Amino acid sequence: MKFFIDTANLDQIREAQDMGVLDGVTTNPSLMAKEGITGRNNILKHYVDICNIVDGDVSAEVISTDFAGMVKEGEELAELHEQIVVKLPMIKDGVKAAKYFADKGIRTNVTLVFSAGQALLAAKAGATYVSPFIGRLDDISTDGLNLIAEIRHIYDNYGFETQILAASVRHTMHVIDCAKIGADVMTGPLSSIEGLLKHPLTDSGLAKFLADYKKGN
Ligand code: E4P
Repeated sequence: MKFFIDTANLDQIREAQDMGVLDGVTTNPSLMAKEGITGRNNILKHYVDICNIVDGDVSAEVISTDFAGMVKEGEELAELHEQIVVKLPMIKDGVKAAKYFADKGIRTNVTLVFSAGQALLAAKAGATYVSPFIGRLDDISTDGLNLIAEIRHIYDNYGFETQILAASVRHTMHVIDCAKIGADVMTGPLSSIEGLLKHPLTDSGLAKFLADYKKGN
């Protein structure tokens, strides 16, 4: 299972990378705005800065909603760095653009996916990643993890190679449940990764080992 961090914050990206378990980064226009990164040139530079910190894939989202605009923007993004994956919205032109980029060998991440039917379309178009948003489904009393299971089942039925990137992960149990279901990737905040470390028996066990060592030395 790949771990991506879902942020545009360079310090958090560095921290996750330093742990040695990071496989990539996802961003979106809201995450960029949260870091105060505005203006096309600054945004493009920020993507390159992120690519220079991590070894893996970095999703960079287009803001166009028409096919021609997505192609133009996506090609510009893909040119920036070999680690860039073009992130496209799950709308009709986004599906068309995913097919266009697949034919050109440019990797894509189809985002804002909330149903199995949308995930099926993304796979048919040849998307590299599909991003079902589990936290946002949970927010409206719909089982986000069930969507991951449905997509896993459908993709396995037909051997689709599109990777299931569980997005909108909010906490460690999302990570663990996605791993049980077989999501290929999860993207979440740093806290969802660091939370996996925590166990009180680890802390008390380590404290006892160190205390016992001190007694004998
Ligand atoms: C996915 O790529 C999105 O950036 C993201 O996971 C959205 O998460 P949120 O619902 O916590 O905003």
